[in-house]
Amino acid sequence: MKGILFYHSNSGNTQLVCNTLQHQLQAVKLTLHDVADKPLPDMNQFDIVGFATWTYFLGLPPFFQTFLDDLPQQTGKPAFAMNTFGMMSGQAIKRLTDQLNAKGFVVIAAHSLHTPESYPPYIIKGWDNIDAPDTKLLKAFHNFIGELDKKLTQLIQDTPVTKTNVKIGLFNHLIRPYSLTKARKQMGTLFVDTNLCTECGLCAEKCLYNAITMNPNPMFDAEKCHVCWACFNHCPEKAIFTEKIKSVGHYSEPNPHFTEKMSVEKVY
Ligand SMILES: Cc1cc2nc3c(=O)[nH]c(=O)nc-3n(C[C@H](O)[C@H](O)[C@H](O)COP(=O)(O)O)c2cc1C
Ligand code: SF4
Ligand code: SF4
Repeated sequence: MKGILFYHSNSGNTQLVCNTLQHQLQAVKLTLHDVADKPLPDMNQFDIVGFATWTYFLGLPPFFQTFLDDLPQQTGKPAFAMNTFGMMSGQAIKRLTDQLNAKGFVVIAAHSLHTPESYPPYIIKGWDNIDAPDTKLLKAFHNFIGELDKKLTQLIQDTPVTKTNVKIGLFNHLIRPYSLTKARKQMGTLFVDTNLCTECGLCAEKCLYNAITMNPNPMFDAEKCHVCWACFNHCPEKAIFTEKIKSVGHYSEPNPHFTEKMSVEKVY
């Protein structure tokens, strides 16, 4: 069986989780594809389609939402959904699954994994969740891989597979995703320290919202900015700052604890 896993990852956690799925799922040969890389492969060439994203202000990142909106209508294509979150996933996995089902996919499995935090305002408060996921949640992730593998085997054997029923806790259900206005307010204005900036252009490359132009240092367009913090997190010189955060709180790649946990073979 051939599968494709479309993922969106700003700082590598989700990509690492996808690598783990690719490595540990036995029933499918998974191809990974970053949704930022165009053109997108034709999903008709695959038997199953996976979708993975990080949690953005208790919902889905706008860039990934646009990708979902543009997906062609399906007639029962099997799919699975994956989500990572640093603190509280809110409605991310439910929104993802509901939208895929509404697009005509049949989502057979879905999972939300607690990972280290990549949101700088929380990291500087000490809420970095560096040890996430704990043993229980890592086991739940491995169980998810096992369940998904079983369902994929059923599909190969032409045994009918049922749609998964995604349940999120009451608090996640009640809490509303942040508005862009609130997110922008929490971030404040982006600035660059021109003494540190080497004019390398990496921040502009990482900005999926075309909100940065180089002249010769980055200039930020507040109207286009969707507050993803990718420029801040990835600047190798830590030259980007706001009124509230300077020089600290960056998360540009999965931390070593998390990388090690993701390399553990499944225990189900
Ligand atoms: C702008 C921004 C908003 C975030 N919002 C949330 C959130 O609402 N809830 C949460 O649990 N984690 C949130 N996070 C944390 C990330 O979802 C989490 O660390 C994720 O694993 C990052 O995945 P990535 O490394 O693949 O980008 C946010 C991170 C950023 C940068
Ligand atoms: S990534 Fe940092 S050093 Fe490179 S251009 Fe942007 S602000 Fe300057
Ligand atoms: S300017 Fe920075 S924070 Fe704003 S959308 Fe671009 S990368 Fe994200």
